[in-house]
Amino acid sequence: MGRRQQDRFGKRARREGFPARSVYKLEEIDRRVQLLKPGMNVLDLGAAPGSWTLYASQKVGKKGRIMALDLHELHSEIPPNVEFRVCDAREQSVESLGGPFDVVLSDMAPKTMGTRSADQYRSYELFLTAVEIAARTAKIGGSFVGKIFQGAEFEAGREALRKHFAKVRVLKPEAVREESYELFLVGIGRREVSLGESKPAEPAEPSDEAADDPSS
Ligand SMILES: C[S@@+](CC[C@H](N)C(=O)[O-])C[C@H]1O[C@@H](n2cnc3c(N)ncnc32)[C@H](O)[C@@H]1O
Repeated sequence: MGRRQQDRFGKRARREGFPARSVYKLEEIDRRVQLLKPGMNVLDLGAAPGSWTLYASQKVGKKGRIMALDLHELHSEIPPNVEFRVCDAREQSVESLGGPFDVVLSDMAPKTMGTRSADQYRSYELFLTAVEIAARTAKIGGSFVGKIFQGAEFEAGREALRKHFAKVRVLKPEAVREESYELFLVGIGRREVSLGESKPAEPAEPSDEAADDPSS
């Protein structure tokens, strides 16, 4: 997809009142896996500037609820069905988050330092944090969406998610910039596994599978 097409997402976001073009990543995932429904309880990790929160808030409607958090403030008005907290997801007790949640979302990303392998590793760590939170707060049968940078740890991330979700898909929405190496791992149908089994996975050997398989 060329720059012009990418810019269209930015323009469309401004026109439709979303603070970031990233909303169309979640919209596509939602369309493809039927994620968000009226009345749902949703956890949104790494929520700023607020596009996913706004989109999810509209989809769950008045009877639904969103718990959103980020290291930074949101750049949009907070709708009445949203509770937002400025905090570090790694330092929150799961009890303080509420739940149980029908859907746990994580668009968390590290501040990139320019060293690709280090950025990938930090993205993997944030992804594992999100999986661990989902393992403790998602409803049985619930869903998960988490961003992870494609890299050596990708397979370990996918395995960590497989421990908790019956079906795992890898999606690269159209709104992801062409040059970006981010992917989304989607977990469908949270399984009832003992939390003793949910220790973070050790990074596996590098694999090219993910790069060739964005929709498995
Ligand atoms: C790509 S942005 C999220 C965009 C958002 N989904 C939206 O649509 O507006 C990634 C966010 O992850 C947040 N983040 C990174 N590490 C975090 C952490 N440890 N705890 C909470 N948020 C974190 C960053 O502050 C940043 O705002």
